[in-house]
Amino acid sequence: MRRGLGIAIVSTIALTVTACGSSGSSSSSSSSGGGGSVSGAKTLAASAMNSPPKGTITYCTGKDTTGDAAYTVAQFNAKYSAQGYHAQLVEFPASADQQRAQFIQRQQAHSSSCDVFSSDVIWTAEFSSQKWLYDLTPYVTANASKFIAAPLDTVHYGGKYWGVPQTSDAAFIYYKKGEAVPSTWQQVYADAKKTGGIVYQGAPYEGLTCDFLELAFAAGGQVLSADGKKSVLNSPQNVKALELMVSGIKQGSAPQAVTTYMEPETDQAFTTGKYGYMRNWTYAYAADSTGALKGKIAAAPLPTFAGAGKASILGGHNSVISVYSKDPGLALKFADFFASPAMQKAQILKFSLAAVIPSVYTDPDVRKAVPYSSQLLQALSQAHARPVSPVYPQISQAIYTNVNDALAGRVSPQAALQKADSQINSALATF
Ligand code: GLC
Repeated sequence: MRRGLGIAIVSTIALTVTACGSSGSSSSSSSSGGGGSVSGAKTLAASAMNSPPKGTITYCTGKDTTGDAAYTVAQFNAKYSAQGYHAQLVEFPASADQQRAQFIQRQQAHSSSCDVFSSDVIWTAEFSSQKWLYDLTPYVTANASKFIAAPLDTVHYGGKYWGVPQTSDAAFIYYKKGEAVPSTWQQVYADAKKTGGIVYQGAPYEGLTCDFLELAFAAGGQVLSADGKKSVLNSPQNVKALELMVSGIKQGSAPQAVTTYMEPETDQAFTTGKYGYMRNWTYAYAADSTGALKGKIAAAPLPTFAGAGKASILGGHNSVISVYSKDPGLALKFADFFASPAMQKAQILKFSLAAVIPSVYTDPDVRKAVPYSSQLLQALSQAHARPVSPVYPQISQAIYTNVNDALAGRVSPQAALQKADSQINSALATF
């Protein structure tokens, strides 16, 4: 069951990851809770979790492809059911966009069907602005020193804390042990052509925004102006990044099918053994080390964009508590359990999910089983946040729809970014 074990990571991580994200701790500064403001939210006392009413809370999360959600729920029940506290799992689709849609549908109906929701790091601004979440500031400030700064910052908006960090995330380039490790994106594409190709998430959804921004930020591009008021997407740097991705498909470095891939399809393709490289999140260390690739996968930090820099995108999920929950105290107990050292350690050992508390990365068992743990921690701390805005989903949609059109050959990279640029400006004008 310890699927995170036996997977190699090259030692170059130690050497190269430090340069990842040229703006250093950009994730902590750019998404600071200073932006925006939310008033009139319901606040949950930290003590609410101490002896909440007995019952069952529902934990809603995206498709549990690795089994980590079922594991967490089972562990919670094993620990607390004798006291009358239970959790049950509801799975939403694998697509981040569809998870968001499912949660929104329930919140708009004032439904109590999700007490705790596994909320992507990008949704804090939107969900809190809509007043769908409990303000968890009392609990989070009391526990703040326990968390890594970057994931903690993703629950901070309008000067308040809206969730409990659950898992953090960053992407790597996976390849078969023994292959060369490309040091630039250009080299990745060139080598991929000789080794079966690179697979990644190119379908029109949130994942493609991440995959594109990793190259775009590395090339020196940005999404929004420094004051966050207008789009700067249509820049020469971003066009260069998209041109590399588009020519990668045209010239056979990536299969055309990536334009339909989300994470599960990417894993399925890579584990056939047919492709030389894969871009995917940290969970893939454990998840893809099966079948023909068991013990044969290696991973490297995302490379440099030739002539420019390096960048990775901060991913991850937070436990947020719905204002329509009938037992928010029990919901907080579950969120607290998820963030506990024991659960965080189990998540990285069994499922290669990035812990949100630093002590896990120095735990001797984790060090032994996951030799790259300290580099992973560094990668998270240096990753770029995606733009923080209540209209982030529209910004992202403008990016992924048009980038997908370019990848599929329907429009030129330049035309795609021009269109996305104007759609982002329209979205920004709505709030
Ligand atoms: C991963 C990341 C999340 C990102 C999503 C995109 O789940 O953790 O932050 O938005 O992938 O598909």
